[in-house]
Amino acid sequence: MEKEYILAIDEGTTTARAIIFDHSGKKVAVARHPIQQILPNPGWVEHEPNEIWNAVQTTIATALIDSGIKPQQIKAIGIASQRETTVIWDKKTGLPIYNAIVWQSRQTSKLANDLIKEGYKEEIHQKTGLIISPYFSATKIRWILDHVDGAQKRAENGELLFGTINTWLLWKLTDGESFMTDYANASRTMIYNINTLSWDDDLLKLFNIPKAMLPEVRSNSEIFGVTKNYQFYGSEIPISGMTGSQQASLFGQMAFEKGMVKNTYGTGAFAVMNTGDKPAMSDNNLLTTIAYGINGQIKYALEGSVFVAGAALQWLRDDMRLISSTPETSAAAKASTNQDEIYVVPAFAGLGAPYWDNQAHGTIFGITRGTTDKDLIKATLQAIAYQTKDIITTMASDSKIPIEVMKVDGAASANDYLMQFQADILDIDLQRSSELETTSLGVAFMAGLGVGFWKDQEDIKKNYQTGKLYQPKMASSVRENLYAGWQNAVTATMAFKH
Ligand code: G3P
Repeated sequence: MEKEYILAIDEGTTTARAIIFDHSGKKVAVARHPIQQILPNPGWVEHEPNEIWNAVQTTIATALIDSGIKPQQIKAIGIASQRETTVIWDKKTGLPIYNAIVWQSRQTSKLANDLIKEGYKEEIHQKTGLIISPYFSATKIRWILDHVDGAQKRAENGELLFGTINTWLLWKLTDGESFMTDYANASRTMIYNINTLSWDDDLLKLFNIPKAMLPEVRSNSEIFGVTKNYQFYGSEIPISGMTGSQQASLFGQMAFEKGMVKNTYGTGAFAVMNTGDKPAMSDNNLLTTIAYGINGQIKYALEGSVFVAGAALQWLRDDMRLISSTPETSAAAKASTNQDEIYVVPAFAGLGAPYWDNQAHGTIFGITRGTTDKDLIKATLQAIAYQTKDIITTMASDSKIPIEVMKVDGAASANDYLMQFQADILDIDLQRSSELETTSLGVAFMAGLGVGFWKDQEDIKKNYQTGKLYQPKMASSVRENLYAGWQNAVTATMAFKH
């Protein structure tokens, strides 16, 4: 019999990837394609949904061609995607009625602020586990229905469909046959009740979103449909895993036990803790969300997001032009001899947890005549670590679970300076996974479980390989001083409004 594989699609904010894994969890083919960022107004971020679909098709073809693996050797497909990003399309023609509004986009800030003023904070938090923010899908759906002529009426008539990117891709791969989402992605829409596991009628009424446009919510590992043969090179392959990118990497890190934490350093940085069978609610503005639901068992998570992590390094590269590639930042930071502490607060899209300040703008503190490019690069890397510390400290106190080790992955986890500084400033061990593409690996595991390629989680665990371990080396007085400086910088940033 020919060898069989799992294909993972990881459609992220800046890149679409297709990665093929074998039974030992080893990556045998990788293809990437960039996604164009459409920035129509300051703070707005949009994607073209058909460009996303084309990018996914291109990466799948490239991964198959480069590896020589035949389409029929793919046992199952998993889809992990950027979450919250909202697409609305015409059910008959398949044409989106507006660009996809990306999770980072701030065009619905006013809507979100109005809801806070009207006193919905508590109800929305209790039902969805979320903080009212333009980040989540609900206000984005409302915005599209308000800004596209006749859209509300068409949605009420059942002519329009809403999906996050996973749903859009599933619908395309199955040529409109499967219109579904999964627990993890649904839990990021702000209209899904994570306690009753259903779309919440009161919230749908509040946002005036017709139920007819919503996908059916399924578990994270089951057969959602099969590829139409002309969408997958003559083969009907089951799509049997689906989740959001951050829940996928939690699963790829095999954080199956209560209390396990991972942080993924991508465009943003997302720290997620598995909190077990019951939702743990945060008193400090962390999100409560669904980690995964498999075989009737739901696991919940606490999450804190740093909106700008790798994106700050891209800013150093593309806008400040201080580097020509982001990996260079590690050596540059190590070469900085700066003693006067500089703080960069990269609040380019407001500040996420635990501050949730939609209006904050980025700031730089502490520069002198002697400040160099290397010092700024170092301070930008440090900002990623400080923001992560803000979240991890809050997470430990909200969950009442001490965090002794944090699993790390994502592109910037390859950055040696950042990882050591992160371990130092957190004063805990960091365990990097040997496979940095844990998002793809996680959804590949879900897809494989859905078709019996792997038997159960124990079977999957046999594939776990650890990478480098970073241990804290910084004196506590130094750590405390540095962190106090960061907290001052954040306070000043939030006070600065224009
Ligand atoms: O919540 C947004 C998050 O899912 C972004 O994902 O894959 O672009 O890092 P990604």
